[in-house]
Amino acid sequence: MSIVSGTRTDQRLGFADQTEEVRVAELAVSGAVPAWLSGGLVRVTPAQMDFEHRSVTHWFDGLAMLNRFGFDGGAVSYASRFLDTDARRAALASGGRSIDGFATDPCRSLFQRVQSTFSPDLTDNANVNLTRLGDEYLAMTETPIPVRFDPETLATLGHDEGAAAFGQITTAHPHHDPVTGELVNFAAQLGRRSEYRVYARRSTADSRTLATMPVREPAYMHSFAITPRFAVLLENPLVVNPLKLALSGKAFIHNYRWKPERGVRIHAFNRATGALHRSWTADPFFVFHTINAFEDGGDLVVDLCAHPDASVIDLLNLDGLRAGTNAPQDPRPLRLTLPLTGGPVASRPLADVDFELPRIDYRRRNGHDYRYAYGVSSAGSAFLKRLVKLDVADGTYATWDEPSRWAGEPVFVPRPGAEGEDDGVVLSVVLDAEAGRSFLLVLDAGTFEEIARAQAPHHIPFGFHGQFFSGR
Ligand SMILES: [Fe+2]
Repeated sequence: MSIVSGTRTDQRLGFADQTEEVRVAELAVSGAVPAWLSGGLVRVTPAQMDFEHRSVTHWFDGLAMLNRFGFDGGAVSYASRFLDTDARRAALASGGRSIDGFATDPCRSLFQRVQSTFSPDLTDNANVNLTRLGDEYLAMTETPIPVRFDPETLATLGHDEGAAAFGQITTAHPHHDPVTGELVNFAAQLGRRSEYRVYARRSTADSRTLATMPVREPAYMHSFAITPRFAVLLENPLVVNPLKLALSGKAFIHNYRWKPERGVRIHAFNRATGALHRSWTADPFFVFHTINAFEDGGDLVVDLCAHPDASVIDLLNLDGLRAGTNAPQDPRPLRLTLPLTGGPVASRPLADVDFELPRIDYRRRNGHDYRYAYGVSSAGSAFLKRLVKLDVADGTYATWDEPSRWAGEPVFVPRPGAEGEDDGVVLSVVLDAEAGRSFLLVLDAGTFEEIARAQAPHHIPFGFHGQFFSGR
């Protein structure tokens, strides 16, 4: 609707609105989807950016839509549905004037959002990631107002109000602890005295604080890492004065300042005692996504996708993405080695390839030594485009790429009874810009070759993250 002709044949289609909600019982499939694959790949994407009176100005602020590819005995179904949030109702009622998001400047002051822990001004537009907590399924953004949804019907079930106790800013990248069954996350509580809080939740009603740390200028942190012993926070040198955040009236991220002289400060908290084990400082970079972390002898190893600086946030402005003038930066997979008894940080690239939206076999390898990471690479094109399977042991990698196709986050699903780390499939929603619609790609994770694809009925806007939820 909002896009002009000529933009439908390349990546710009991925930033066009998709407001159609559909259910398709069986998609056309080529190849053979493994019969063992049972459940649904549910993803969340910003799907509506344009409103009667204005458009959002940043990709991160589009209204959240859920997409579900369901798998049953080799057949694939599809459904899409908006999250029915307060943010969506207000945006539709006000023609977009109400939107007050990550980087779209609000039409009103931000004062209340920081004054009150649970303010109606905090957006519930949970368009970043999904997770399971106990028996609940949650859509998340970086405010502590996850939205509960039904993973089969995609119906919105209301807010998860148990997350707001820990601060006003949190991450959409919690970690499952396979031992305790808890979901571990952290938040920043902003105020005259600000602090970071690492917390764990067993259910929407059962949570506890694991560790706290006072902080004068909180950093923007999109994700963190865990090992069995540690929770590891990586403070980007992109920091905010909490009082300015309260009073400026600017969009959230526009209050943060890039201070490369700080370097990246890394803090390892002992998850059992809450004590700060040690802090280190690395040369400056900007990180959205950690890949994994683990202990190796006397070292703590943290792998992540490092951008040269925080200008990547501005490069994701919607106008530039829609015009095709915003080339993404060049994030590199980086390994930090942190001596647990103190000493300088060693850092080295894991491979000579750009790499973002990383995934591993989190169920079995999160917090442990591992070999394979899956991600998306732009390889010099206008946006993230081709899929990459990276062998972190030797830096070699395999790719999947086709002309005019733009792949999204690759989600690894292990085969039942899998023994090898890459015994399973990789699922990715791919935009076919020529055909003007998307498809679900199934790769053999071992060979990284296509085994099937299922055609979606329409284009699915580019999104951030999704999860595979096993059949019930
Ligand atoms: Fe993310």
